[in-house]
Amino acid sequence: MQRRLYQGRDFRRAQNIEELREMARRRLPNFSFEYVEGGSDDEVTLKRNRAIFESVTLQPRTLRDVGQRTLERSFFNKPAQLPFMVGPTGFNGLLTQDGDLQLARAAANAGIPFVLSNASTTSMEDIASVDNIRAWMQIYLYRTRDHVARLVERAQRLNLEAIVVTTDSAILGNREWDKRNYVKPLLLDVRNHLDVLCHPRWIWDVLVPNGVPRFKNLGDLLPPGQDTVKGAASALAAELDPSLNWDDIAWLRDMWRGKLIVKGMIHPDDARLAMQYGVDGVVLSNHGGRQLDGAVSAMETLPEVARICRGQMEVFLDGGFRRGSDIAKALLLGASGVLIGRAGIYGLAAGKGPGAAHAIDILRNELDRTLGLLGCCRLEELTPDLIHAPHWRALAEAIRN
Ligand SMILES: Cc1cc2nc3c(=O)[nH]c(=O)nc-3n(C[C@H](O)[C@H](O)[C@H](O)COP(=O)(O)O)c2cc1C
Repeated sequence: MQRRLYQGRDFRRAQNIEELREMARRRLPNFSFEYVEGGSDDEVTLKRNRAIFESVTLQPRTLRDVGQRTLERSFFNKPAQLPFMVGPTGFNGLLTQDGDLQLARAAANAGIPFVLSNASTTSMEDIASVDNIRAWMQIYLYRTRDHVARLVERAQRLNLEAIVVTTDSAILGNREWDKRNYVKPLLLDVRNHLDVLCHPRWIWDVLVPNGVPRFKNLGDLLPPGQDTVKGAASALAAELDPSLNWDDIAWLRDMWRGKLIVKGMIHPDDARLAMQYGVDGVVLSNHGGRQLDGAVSAMETLPEVARICRGQMEVFLDGGFRRGSDIAKALLLGASGVLIGRAGIYGLAAGKGPGAAHAIDILRNELDRTLGLLGCCRLEELTPDLIHAPHWRALAEAIRN
């Protein structure tokens, strides 16, 4: 009999993130799945983000007592249950009703931070009221800086721990597969309209309760009545600011009292600058292969950045994390922690909040198993000698010297 992934709807039967992804593909209309899935141009970087993990080969130790393991890790001197967190993804309300809220609850229950996207369909106030939440707010520096200042004030009032400012999207990446679904911006073509009608479960879940989801953090930026994920596209595109530069980070640093994290850099020299500007952490990222096609994977500049920033700044990264062993590899190469993007929202789309929790569980169990199989009980025991590939091992060793 031919091997095949589970074909049903019960997300609990998904063995891994790939299986959740296939369930998400079946549950979502094509335009919505493509929005999640796609990368820019030829999707070279998108593919590289996955392929890179295969080159980091491991050499485990054996006959070590690994009966008592823990996956705890501190970010900014505050413990988290796991060394990864849920990264920011916009438009989650198009995956399931109250998508952000459900994802945030899954993160809070797992004891990990949740980064709310600027383009979210739940307000930061609602996220902040989730029990046991550790909420970080992602922002873009739109042209209307007064709006950004008001967002920061709101985050301040809510006492959020961190602002994550995304800097790789001052110009929007060219996502051709996404664009092909529309006759003009955000007007679906006939084929996709028909496809939506073939997804009654999604219509019932997403559209019937409250109509097209609305952006809940951008109200004062958008013209009255144009805050739906459909109506706001052109207004938001016009707000992207290609003149963005380090002065803007200095402006934000002056204004914001909490932790400041810059997301979307990949060059070690930018990490150096971030330290000079008083930034507390970076997220090395190519935006999940959705911005500059041809960019390296964050894994590739991680060791150099970890070496430069050691002890001074938290170094997070994202891009392509689908297995617990991927996360272990990033930790071996000096990461403070990892952000998951699509992995979490595949779970959300496949099974709503419980599906997102299942995605986190899958990664937790895989990471725990990897740790044990490597002969380690704690994440601090992930040392460079466990890497076999000479290139990667040398880079990991350089971080310690
Ligand atoms: C559907 C989707 C929406 C995203 N929206 C945002 C966003 O609003 N803000 C942001 O900083 N990054 C956004 N990203 C990028 C992610 O935060 C992250 O960098 C990327 O997804 C990591 O790659 P991965 O999906 O392979 O894990 C988005 C990514 C996806 C897939």
